[in-house]
Amino acid sequence: MCGIVGYIGESKAKGLVIDGLKRLEYRGYDSAGIAICIDGKIEIKKEKGKIENLEKIIGDPAFDGNVAIGHTRWATHGVPSATNAHPHRSMSGKIAVVHNGIIENYEEIREELKGSGVKFLSETDTEVIAQLIGSLYDGDLLVAVRKAVARFRGAYAIGVVASDEPDRIVAVRKDAPLIVGLGKDGNFISSDVPAILKQTRDVYFINNDETVLLTKDEVKIFDDDGNPVTHQVQHIDWDVNSAEKGGYDHFMIKEINEQPKGIYDTLHQRLQDDGSIKLDGISLTKEDIENISKIYIVACGTAYHAGIVGKYIIEKIVKIPVEVDIASEFRYRDSFVDEHTLFIAISQSGETLDTLEALREAKRKGARVLSVVNVVGSSVARESDDVFYTWAGPEIAVASTKAYTTQLVCMYLIALYMASHKGNIDKAYYDKIVNGLKEIPDKLSRLLEKQADIGKIAKKYYGWDKIFFVGRGQDVGVSYEGALKLKEISYINAYAIAAGELKHGTIALMDDHTLVIALATQDGLFEKMISNIEEITAREAHVMGLAKESNTKIGKFVEDEIYIPDCIDELTPLLSVVPLQIFAYYVAKERGCDIDKPKNLAKSVTVE
Ligand code: G6P
Repeated sequence: MCGIVGYIGESKAKGLVIDGLKRLEYRGYDSAGIAICIDGKIEIKKEKGKIENLEKIIGDPAFDGNVAIGHTRWATHGVPSATNAHPHRSMSGKIAVVHNGIIENYEEIREELKGSGVKFLSETDTEVIAQLIGSLYDGDLLVAVRKAVARFRGAYAIGVVASDEPDRIVAVRKDAPLIVGLGKDGNFISSDVPAILKQTRDVYFINNDETVLLTKDEVKIFDDDGNPVTHQVQHIDWDVNSAEKGGYDHFMIKEINEQPKGIYDTLHQRLQDDGSIKLDGISLTKEDIENISKIYIVACGTAYHAGIVGKYIIEKIVKIPVEVDIASEFRYRDSFVDEHTLFIAISQSGETLDTLEALREAKRKGARVLSVVNVVGSSVARESDDVFYTWAGPEIAVASTKAYTTQLVCMYLIALYMASHKGNIDKAYYDKIVNGLKEIPDKLSRLLEKQADIGKIAKKYYGWDKIFFVGRGQDVGVSYEGALKLKEISYINAYAIAAGELKHGTIALMDDHTLVIALATQDGLFEKMISNIEEITAREAHVMGLAKESNTKIGKFVEDEIYIPDCIDELTPLLSVVPLQIFAYYVAKERGCDIDKPKNLAKSVTVE
């Protein structure tokens, strides 16, 4: 969702900013633009659609300078168009602004500015930012930005340049991501690390309500009251290649194949040689755990699906009741959260606004907040009492894969840690799960060797337009995730339901144009699933079954089957989701979809 990149320094800015924007494409966008300070003026070019469209109109070498701000827009106010694309400028033309987020009170400010004669060109809230800063500008950009921001309600990360002060970029954030990169010959602003990773690994993570003043030689950060603050430089040690496709056709399939490593990294160092678990970033004591009477897991999208499986795992292992909620719903109901509640937020990006707001609500009510986050230094991480990082590495494809499986690993680790501290887990059972977890990376690598076979099944069904996912127990959560993957990237109408619930209505939709993907991965529920599969085939629907290698019996009841390596029932979600990811990938490929950047979707959703 909207990406910002800015550069000020000795080098030419255009190429650096465009390169950075391309690395933010994964966030989702529908138009792009750039503003460059050239000979005391601000020149702006913007275009609807892909960054390549913008590149076609900015080729002129004279259109370049040492200061630029660029943007990829994901429409909120006003249709995707060149006019609504950022940067927006003030009526005087002296100020240009890029913005990620929403200014909730923009209409009120727009009416007020119109009343004083300001003319607007677009329908966006961002133009209001540019016009307000323009109307307050009196030769000092930092002062004008601070005055303007005091008027805004909402979420924003904003980058601003002024033609009268071409030696600076001013940026500010509240509830939308903003980082500063410290380059060799200049400085950057950006929405995320991958955008600037090629230029620098030294960054500042900017906090809410902080304003930043960048010149080519220095970066100054100010708090809400305008007092200078110092930040530690954070050194990013990701491999640049991990933010590149590395020979794969798409980031998604690369990230699917990175799952054994992601799981290994997330487990490694947390699982000690003696079988005990050391959770870095978590300071929950035995006393704290004994004080917890209820757990809420709150998240969005794929992370929410990890939470659904997490509920099964935690309730089974820790024996504390768990509620799972969609973050956008949690805030608006009277949840029973108090100081005996552990609130677990799950988020890949750590910037999803709904999750962030739910977390704040839980904190207000006295809950202890633990987050499971992939992006280091993100807002969710910073606002939590305890942070447990998934070590999935950067996830670029919009459809989440390796973040999901590492989130699941965290659910097991948190459950085992809590149960062992509570002292209510039998040693043999604990060891069985720990040993099972250690074997998952190898088993997953073996499963990934079947990609071509799954691709063949995808070829058979890619034209179908009605696909159901059914399962029981933990497989219900995995079914939701399988259906979401397929919807997101192939645009097929996919639907997931608990297998036992089918007969209460949904079975009416079964016919010989329906594919049902039946997950029967748990030994304890296998026979029940076979009965459900028989109900489905009796209605002439086609079934693809997913089961453990030792349950080949499923082959007698289904048309196509995929086997996952044997493991204990508790751990099957770590394996069973992967064939579903691969199936979705090949179906989308056959359908010619834009797999890494599906239409209408954004990787990091920073609006409510
Ligand atoms: C967006 C993404 C999903 C993701 C969800 C939650 O909708 O497209 O892939 O699961 O946000 O994101 P988070 O970063 O909080 O995990």
